[in-house]
Amino acid sequence: MASSPIIFSVLLLLIFSPSSSAQTSFRPKALLLPVTKDQSTLQYTTVINQRTPLVPASVVFDLGGRELWVDCDKDYVSSTYQSPRCNSAVCSRAGSNSCGTCFSPPRPGCSNNTCGGIPDNTVTGTATSGEFALDVVSIQSTNGSNPGRVVKIPNLIFDCGATFLLKGLAAGTVGMAGMGRHNIGLPSQFAAAFSFNRKFAVCLTSGRGVAFFGNGPYVFLPGIQISGLQTTPLLINPVSTASAFPQGEKSSEYFIGVTAIKIVEKTVPINPTLLKINASTGFGGTKISSVNPYTVLESSIYNAFTSEFVKQAAGRNITRVASVKPFSACFSTQNVGVTRLGYAVPEIQLVLHSNDVVWRIFGANSMVSVSDDIICLGFVDGGVNARTSVVIGGFQLEDNLIEFDLASNRFGFSSTLLGRRTNCANFNFTSTT
Ligand SMILES: *[C@@H]1O[C@H](CO)[C@@H](O)[C@H](O)[C@H]1NC(C)=O
Ligand SMILES: *[C@@H]1O[C@H](CO)[C@@H](O)[C@H](O)[C@H]1NC(C)=O
Ligand SMILES: *[C@@H]1O[C@H](CO)[C@@H](O)[C@H](O)[C@H]1NC(C)=O
Ligand SMILES: *[C@@H]1O[C@H](CO)[C@@H](O)[C@H](O)[C@H]1NC(C)=O
Ligand SMILES: *[C@@H]1O[C@H](CO)[C@@H](O)[C@H](O)[C@H]1NC(C)=O
Repeated sequence: MASSPIIFSVLLLLIFSPSSSAQTSFRPKALLLPVTKDQSTLQYTTVINQRTPLVPASVVFDLGGRELWVDCDKDYVSSTYQSPRCNSAVCSRAGSNSCGTCFSPPRPGCSNNTCGGIPDNTVTGTATSGEFALDVVSIQSTNGSNPGRVVKIPNLIFDCGATFLLKGLAAGTVGMAGMGRHNIGLPSQFAAAFSFNRKFAVCLTSGRGVAFFGNGPYVFLPGIQISGLQTTPLLINPVSTASAFPQGEKSSEYFIGVTAIKIVEKTVPINPTLLKINASTGFGGTKISSVNPYTVLESSIYNAFTSEFVKQAAGRNITRVASVKPFSACFSTQNVGVTRLGYAVPEIQLVLHSNDVVWRIFGANSMVSVSDDIICLGFVDGGVNARTSVVIGGFQLEDNLIEFDLASNRFGFSSTLLGRRTNCANFNFTSTT
């Protein structure tokens, strides 16, 4: 009996003895990416360290994007680049049903017997034919408050795009990082690589924010842990909203069920059909987008919303001034107070699946400063035939923590972190390794 603890220890030593594989067998609980706003295009960008030798590839952060795609035409050099064979497991995971031939000398992006993809520039709505590929990606792990060790994903699936597809993207970027709900969206691939929860959270800001993949906590300086998110179901749009897509594919974008929009306590009159996703056409509903700088509302919603806001602003003696494109409702800052949550303007409420689950939008997320003394309601008109009736855009997301739980199909939101005395620029990027 007395000897059994010793035997046990020997066994433990055998199993856990340090070896050269200790480094690679470190299994992170969560990963992180910095997400930085490009001041000229108002797009959000991140950096994916890819290839051998590693290259920091700056790419546009696309919440609803199907996959990672990069320009393989120009400067793609890597000794670890691989092409999956047609009909292989990788091709089926990528949802590809085409097999390509390339009549040029072989190079990354030009292989035979490799499955085809459809890289999509979701900013301009342009897609082209590409091919799927695999390569190494390195990414920082996190314990929730700082970046930690760098970990490697040897075979990350991505789509090879073309140089012309970069048109319209932020300067210096070479593609787009799709965070959508597809199997090969980055959140699903990161989760599969390290067996953590298929969950991620995003905190955008006007400078450098952060995205977390896997488990929390989410901690911002000065030591504030963001928890107690309100949640609502993530909805599936059965019809893809991409510029081009394999037939029958559902949307990789994140839809939620906004059931009403209120300004203070007044409900904006909206045709209820517009707020639902039409299952046969995929039109309607509400999605969350990082490629739209401002929330886009279908015209009838936009007009009703703006006029109610203008009416309530007038009731508070806020002086309307001439429009400043792309906005229509602009005001002088003269009679507008300033609070911790931004300009003191009528509060906007997005009512979700139940009347007590409400996303509250205060001045910091509703009013855009266009000059020293003019602010505009930061929402834009999406036209009468808008594909999606409400597209919640970047400015409304900034300094809010939003969480996407793909396993349980739930969307969580913090509302403004300014109310918790922090913001999304307050993540401590000092590495602890
Ligand atoms: C693909 O096959 C075609 C026809 O056999 C050939 O002409 C072409 O050079 C090949 N391309 C590559 C990239 O190997
Ligand atoms: C993360 O690691 C740093 C450095 O070891 C530590 O100071 C911090 O408290 C840790 N955070 C959490 C949430 O565990
Ligand atoms: C969905 O759209 C189609 C085509 O516009 C229309 O005929 C149908 O009535 C719509 N369905 C619902 C439930 O509104
Ligand atoms: C608006 O201005 C008018 C005239 O200056 C004043 O009488 C009224 O009290 C003000 N209302 C509010 C809500 O500040
Ligand atoms: C950020 O984290 C580092 C490493 O844990 C720590 O030394 C530093 O004090 C932190 N910065 C602030 C502003 O707290």
